[in-house]
Amino acid sequence: MVKFKDIKGFVFDLDGVIADTSVYHSKAWHQLADELGVQWSDELADNLKGVSRMDSLELILKTGGKENDYTQEEKEKYAAKKNANYLDLLKGMDSSAILPGIADFLASLEANNYKLSLASASKNSPLVLEQLGLAKYFAEKVDPAKLKHGKPDPEIFARGAQVLNLKPEQCIGVEDAKVGVESINSAGETSIGIGDVNVLSEADINFTKTSELTLANIKKAMEVGEV
Ligand code: G6P
Ligand code: MG
Repeated sequence: MVKFKDIKGFVFDLDGVIADTSVYHSKAWHQLADELGVQWSDELADNLKGVSRMDSLELILKTGGKENDYTQEEKEKYAAKKNANYLDLLKGMDSSAILPGIADFLASLEANNYKLSLASASKNSPLVLEQLGLAKYFAEKVDPAKLKHGKPDPEIFARGAQVLNLKPEQCIGVEDAKVGVESINSAGETSIGIGDVNVLSEADINFTKTSELTLANIKKAMEVGEV
């Protein structure tokens, strides 16, 4: 069992953990699903969390039974259209989009000498971090363009530990997506799921809101043997 004192680093998801941007992703996908005639649902929205741009489009098409209706070129156009909408929604976003408690949590991790890395599937994550004013915390980022497999594969969180020169068991991964929690677990790290406990039941530690994310709460959860 991993002990709190053996934790040296934190590997973060971005959208829905650090910032409220998963709402913007959802909005842009919802708009595209309407255009494609695919029924939107909360379940589809949940299943899209943490999934790469092209895989998200494939999942939407599959949900509507339209997976064979479009050429690769057409799919790329739709994915680009979603991204343009997403970027429009991001315009003017600033540090007020940082989720509650996250700015303090990142500062406390830095003050306590934990290493930090980013494991987001989003190719827009450098831009988002800049806009939020949080880029300084994440010198180490996994480049999603270089990955062979998306979440729930362990690759992205395994890389998140590697870029910090840490072993997976020395790291805690923080996620709001079911596939993200699965990725953390199979990489051999301790997982924190933020959000609906029913969706994220596989996480080692569950918090319903980002404001619960404090070193004291994590220590407590690990000490009571939840992990
Ligand atoms: C994150 C988000 C997903 C998004 C994916 C790719 O994992 O949770 O909603 O589809 O990144 O983002 P991108 O900005 O590259 O399209
Ligand atoms: Mg997320």
